[in-house]
Amino acid sequence: MSATAVFGSTGLVGSQILSTLLSTPKNTTTIQTISRRAPSSSGAKLQATIEPDTSLWASKLAALSPAPSTVFSALGTTRQAAGGIANQWKIDHDLNVELAKAAKRQVGTRTFVFISSAGSSGVIANRLPYTQMKQGVEKAIEDLGFEQSIILRPGLILGDREVPHQGGPLLIGVVRALGRWIGQGAQDRWGQEADVIARAAVHAARIAEEGKAPAKHWVLECADIVRLGRNEPTIIGPATGPEPPYPYRMEGKVISGFGRGSKELGIPTANLPVDESVSWISDIPSGVYFGWASLALPSSHPDFLGHQFELYPMVMSIGYNPFYKNTVRSAEVHVLQKFKADFYGCQMRLLITGFIREEKDYNGLEALIADIEFDCEVARRSLQRVGWAPNEKVEGGKLDYGWLLRRLDEEEEQEGEKKA
Ligand SMILES: Cc1cc2nc3c(=O)[nH]c(=O)nc-3n(C[C@H](O)[C@H](O)[C@H](O)COP(=O)(O)O)c2cc1C
Repeated sequence: MSATAVFGSTGLVGSQILSTLLSTPKNTTTIQTISRRAPSSSGAKLQATIEPDTSLWASKLAALSPAPSTVFSALGTTRQAAGGIANQWKIDHDLNVELAKAAKRQVGTRTFVFISSAGSSGVIANRLPYTQMKQGVEKAIEDLGFEQSIILRPGLILGDREVPHQGGPLLIGVVRALGRWIGQGAQDRWGQEADVIARAAVHAARIAEEGKAPAKHWVLECADIVRLGRNEPTIIGPATGPEPPYPYRMEGKVISGFGRGSKELGIPTANLPVDESVSWISDIPSGVYFGWASLALPSSHPDFLGHQFELYPMVMSIGYNPFYKNTVRSAEVHVLQKFKADFYGCQMRLLITGFIREEKDYNGLEALIADIEFDCEVARRSLQRVGWAPNEKVEGGKLDYGWLLRRLDEEEEQEGEKKA
């Protein structure tokens, strides 16, 4: 991320966004804040503007140098602190909208990230002033047409506020107890820790900057926030390379699946027949795996590169796709490369080098897409290390990939020799 501005930098989530940005050196060049009082973090990259008069914030934002290409707003107050809903509206709604407008129209900000709230859509939400306020800001941001807008909708924000909400500590206690008694999953559905939300916001902005956001207006619900924000591994296994029982090998001709991958998800997948007689495939857990694919494209294919097998990094799902409730176990490969045409019927070999996560069910397509994008990132990062890469792809790569590129006629010869 280049120059970045943060609003709400003295609040619970905003202060964590600021410290996350400051502690991740490659993230930003300059981090600017505009706030009523000084933020508690400090750092060489921080340019803090203290301005008690919030009506001047939009013009101060417009005057920032360098102009921030990413703006985070975690700006919000409580009804109690503001002295009533009308005053809260002026900050939570009006000021946020004013800042978003200034960012888009005067600064030319590319990415606007807004910390909203769970339940800001739906029938009940439409009637509650608090969610109407958040909805209004979300809509204004979407209408402004940023190149990228990111909305986070956390549940109850867990963390210690300087000035607690009325009843807040009690509610937070209940949600944390859910985590202890029922499990982390139960807690995650109702509330998220402020630092997790902050890390999710920064992570989402980085994914967007790399051009990998699943939508131009990307809405992250509680589950996405937890995944992006918690320290789920973004790289798998040791630097030295895959560990036993990996790598697994799989081979077959690409067959068609239900076709939803390309159409609904925008993530094309190539299916391979699952031969349950191969012992490892029936024994391994369903889930998301990654590794290398080699593909024998015909010479007539627009992506044919002149030799029989070509290597590509891949991410794949083995299982029943609970989101689509498949009844048959499938193996679906997403090759991390854009192809100009499909390749049904082509021979594909897979060297599966590791496991990323279990397969999950989702409330909506967007969450599934966000998770797959995240899987792709994990796979890419993991495979870039020399211990995991063939030297065809990464200089000094140490992975034994001979089998992936072996010509089909060589293979037939070997089979023949074995039989003889
Ligand atoms: C990397 C990756 C991860 C996936 N994770 C899940 C998952 O957690 N849950 C799920 O229901 N489907 C998951 N899928 C499967 C998609 O739902 C699947 O690609 C989609 O059903 C399209 O299949 P189709 O082309 O056969 O219609 C994943 C697919 C890939 C490539």
